[in-house]
Amino acid sequence: MSMGERFLDKKDDGYHVAVVGATGAVGQTMLDILAEREFPVAELTLLASSRSAGSVITHQGKDYVVQDLDGFDPAGLDIALFSAGGDTSKTHAPRFAAAGCYVVDNSSAWRMDQDIALVVPEVNPQALNMARENKIIANPNCSTIQMVVALKPLHDAMPIERVVVSTYQAVSGAGGKAMDELAKQTAQLLNAQSVDVDVFPARIAFNVIPHIDDFMADGYTKEERKMMDETVKIMGSDIAVTATTVRVPVFYGHSESVNITFNGPMNAEKARGLLADFDGICVVDDPSAEDYPMPTEAAGSDPVWVGRIRDDLSCPNSLHLWVVADNVRKGAALNAVQIAEILIR
Ligand code: A2P
Repeated sequence: MSMGERFLDKKDDGYHVAVVGATGAVGQTMLDILAEREFPVAELTLLASSRSAGSVITHQGKDYVVQDLDGFDPAGLDIALFSAGGDTSKTHAPRFAAAGCYVVDNSSAWRMDQDIALVVPEVNPQALNMARENKIIANPNCSTIQMVVALKPLHDAMPIERVVVSTYQAVSGAGGKAMDELAKQTAQLLNAQSVDVDVFPARIAFNVIPHIDDFMADGYTKEERKMMDETVKIMGSDIAVTATTVRVPVFYGHSESVNITFNGPMNAEKARGLLADFDGICVVDDPSAEDYPMPTEAAGSDPVWVGRIRDDLSCPNSLHLWVVADNVRKGAALNAVQIAEILIR
């Protein structure tokens, strides 16, 4: 799709890129993906809180000293990839944007702001045009991203009326400390010790927690609300979405059971073809060979994996899908870098 004029002037030597939250789980993956995809970086600035300022990160054989975001002057930056929490984004993204830097923000701070672009490159790249003035682009919630990639080719063929989704979300979505907590609790339980519960609302090892982010007055959690509202904003359509979001003791890779009702005829066979032909999706769907997507295979990979594609026998024009992706890559860091790639195209 043509996006019109360039967002950033062409720079033959590359761009000055900052990673904000460079010591975190997503920030580290952003660095890996910039290198893997050979993003043209002329200068790289790594930022985090005062806690880790002064520490050294080695990236592509070069040492970088992490700088304190507070007091950092963004003048001269072209692109900043933020993954340092909502409060940090609220405070610092506007001052980076005012300095002329495009901010791709992984937090929920700006996503539902009506003037801010909420972008999944495979689904709504044209929304990026909203960012030409305000220069802030929001990366959607990890669970939303992988679901809308799977919905897009189907919705283009036959409008979707309603989606019912249940998620099985990995602990890496809650950051580095959350991964440490699953590892530690697992070791504690296997050694017949009592467990320490700190990051999650309950023990996560050998458990399933139907509670991600805060509860709201209507009984939904904020994570569920994000999936419902962000899907409508990204798809630009009044799709009815209802979600139940659940944390499971998996390190990397979110899985989703997605039930979709269409406005008219759609079936599993047609959907399988549409999904297989879509950029960014890999279909793995062969029950006879017991072949279906799982986080063990999706972790470390870029595509959104779709399987268990079948007609919903209880309802006409309805399907079930099982959708798996690496939540730290496509759900966060990769999506942000793909957005940055459009900004320099
Ligand atoms: P720091 O290492 O200094 O705490 P994760 O999601 O894995 O928990 O990582 C969160 C990332 O966000 C880390 O890089 C963390 O830096 C960074 N971060 C958290 N709070 C702030 C803040 N107030 N200012 C700058 N960076 C922050």
